[in-house]
Amino acid sequence: MPSVSRADLSPEPVVRPRLTVLGTGYLGATHAACMAQLGFEVLGVDVDASKIATLASGRVPFYEPGLEEVLEGAIASGNLRFTTSFEEAAAFGDVHFVCVGTPQKPGEMAADMSYLDACLDMLLPHLRRPALLVGKSTVPAGTADRVAARIAAEAPAGSSLAWNPEFLREGYAVEDTLHPDRLVVGTVRETDLQTMRTVYAPLLEAGVPMVETDFATAELVKVSANAFLATKISFINAMAEVCETTGADVTQLSKALSYDTRIGGRFLQAGLGFGGGCLPKDIRAFMARAGELGVDQALSFLKEVDAINLRRRARTVDLGRELLDGSFAGAKVTVLGAAFKPDSDDVRDSPALDVAATIARQGGRVTVYDPKANANAELRHPELAYASSTAEALAGADLTLLLTEWREFRELDPAEAKQAVAIPQIVDGRNALDAVAWRSAGWTYRALGRP
Ligand SMILES: NC(=O)c1ccc[n+]([C@@H]2O[C@H](COP(=O)([O-])OP(=O)(O)OC[C@H]3O[C@@H](n4cnc5c(N)ncnc54)[C@H](O)[C@@H]3O)[C@@H](O)[C@H]2O)c1
Repeated sequence: MPSVSRADLSPEPVVRPRLTVLGTGYLGATHAACMAQLGFEVLGVDVDASKIATLASGRVPFYEPGLEEVLEGAIASGNLRFTTSFEEAAAFGDVHFVCVGTPQKPGEMAADMSYLDACLDMLLPHLRRPALLVGKSTVPAGTADRVAARIAAEAPAGSSLAWNPEFLREGYAVEDTLHPDRLVVGTVRETDLQTMRTVYAPLLEAGVPMVETDFATAELVKVSANAFLATKISFINAMAEVCETTGADVTQLSKALSYDTRIGGRFLQAGLGFGGGCLPKDIRAFMARAGELGVDQALSFLKEVDAINLRRRARTVDLGRELLDGSFAGAKVTVLGAAFKPDSDDVRDSPALDVAATIARQGGRVTVYDPKANANAELRHPELAYASSTAEALAGADLTLLLTEWREFRELDPAEAKQAVAIPQIVDGRNALDAVAWRSAGWTYRALGRP
């Protein structure tokens, strides 16, 4: 911990702080727009000039339900502006939320902290008065202490840090930001805690609980929450593996488990597993950090959680190949879904795209359709073909795989879909379809963890 204590003399908290949000991606753009809607003056800052231009024009450069309306309203109210200038940000802000990316380092498990370090390099030299930086990015334990030391050395006297991890879910980002389950704030000085209470006053008044803690706990809450959720998903997927060899049905198993209130039904649907820009890289970074801290044994179970998750992708490919009598070569394969989950266009570490690309490498002629993620998918996998509708994707398919459970796929009419394909056989990678209905419409139906 830094040597400053709560009792130290520190500046009075600012009554109505002006906020900046540094890094306006999925997290930052949502945070900026929502804080402006709550009545704060907010300046969004990013190094990506085209992203800033898009946001400034009231458009969201990614798909997030409801966000564009909040963004437009916030800009129209005069509360929200965007810039690429850190000088302007430093002059404007009393509180600077750090929301830059912390992706997995290429070829390593650890998190790449270079964006966070660069963000501090860009902001700190411009600060002319005491400021509160607030870390929201997901980071390895110990980062806040390191950032606090940099602030103490490089920012005007009286500047400080709070750590405030973010729990929003893509697809529900606005709802989660305006009505979070909880707020977690790590601080060292009482005055910073008061500032954070001011910043979140509208949420606190609405009854949102705030856990007030230290830096290390605040950092760990985030990664341990993700480790728990990943473990729950991999638990039911491990049960799916066992179901596959015993003839049991994992969907009925998980339904029966979910009635136990100690277990609960959320994150207990067996299928293709987790992906996205958070869970996979966060559990890997957590393991890497635990190794550095000498407590790797405590997290060795996460290695298995990750392995179970990746095995589901391989199993999905195997199911598809089995339906095609052992080879994808030359077969027309339709993949429904590219985003890592429905209601998002995020394809970072997407299980659906991973499966699609593997099938293509094994000789399948793969056509992908996702209601929102085609463009992002094509940037990463230009070798795949993309259709502009479900109907176009299904036309003439020898095999169909449902890999992201968008509502329009869950609600497909099996009789109608059968008319479009060449061979009515489907792998339901998300256990999202009614197996009885699809089979009775004449489809060969296979799913993970089910007979
Ligand atoms: N996406 C989520 O659902 C979510 C949820 C909770 C926490 N998080 C965490 O939030 C952080 C951001 O995630 P994201 O999904 O928004 O990532 P993202 O890639 O969508 O956004 C990161 C943004 O930071 C910008 N950036 C990079 N370097 C910068 C710099 N030096 N200064 C200013 N901006 C810079 C990038 O241009 C980009 O717009 C990560 O640590 C992530 O783990 C994300």
